[in-house]
Amino acid sequence: MQLLEERINKDGIVKEGNVLKVDSFLNHQMDIELYNEIGKEFRRLFPDKSINKILTIEASGIGIACVTAQYFGCPVVFAKKAQSVNIDGEVYSTSIESFTHKRTYNVIVSKKFLSPDDNVLIIDDFLANGCALLGLIDIVKGAGASIAGAGIVIEKGFQKGGDLVRSKGIRVESLAIVDSMSVDGGCIFRH
Ligand code: G4P
Ligand code: NA
Ligand code: NA
Repeated sequence: MQLLEERINKDGIVKEGNVLKVDSFLNHQMDIELYNEIGKEFRRLFPDKSINKILTIEASGIGIACVTAQYFGCPVVFAKKAQSVNIDGEVYSTSIESFTHKRTYNVIVSKKFLSPDDNVLIIDDFLANGCALLGLIDIVKGAGASIAGAGIVIEKGFQKGGDLVRSKGIRVESLAIVDSMSVDGGCIFRH
């Protein structure tokens, strides 16, 4: 997505350790005009009328998922990062081991909000090693729901998440794929 790549080039900051900061328009301050274009693009890429739910994970996926949902006319469910495993059986839960954040956490979704009747589009801001996305896929499968695909704003194509999820037969559409990046040279995008 041209507009997004231009914005990353203009306002993204590459930090040591292969971290791309996009705090000024995506991850902290949010450019809602850009979000709208992102939402439209996800709708164009996933025209399937049977998509009836968008699933994301807190925190930074939520805003993008909400704006996107306006183009799908469906609700958003966000997976919550939980302190401990909920054992009362009322939730789907999975464990996510984040390499980026170097910790493991449990995420939960209430059984009230996902069922076998759902055809789910997963939305997130970043795809790196894919632990967050794999966790969300696990939750959708646990609910017996269908996965229409995953819409990602920025994929770090040099990390293994994208290949891993696509190799499972899940359609992943990333609006910008960074093939390489450096503190001095910025981002090189895949086309
Ligand atoms: P991982 O397996 O390497 O941990 O990567 P994953 O794709 O699961 O992403 C883990 C978290 O790190 C995600 O945030 C993701 O948004 C964030 N992340 C990964 N690489 C980058 C990067 O280069 N820049 C920025 N800004 N974020 C990155 P999260 O755990 O969902 O937390 P939240 O930030 O959404 O609250
Ligand atoms: Na994030
Ligand atoms: Na995220």
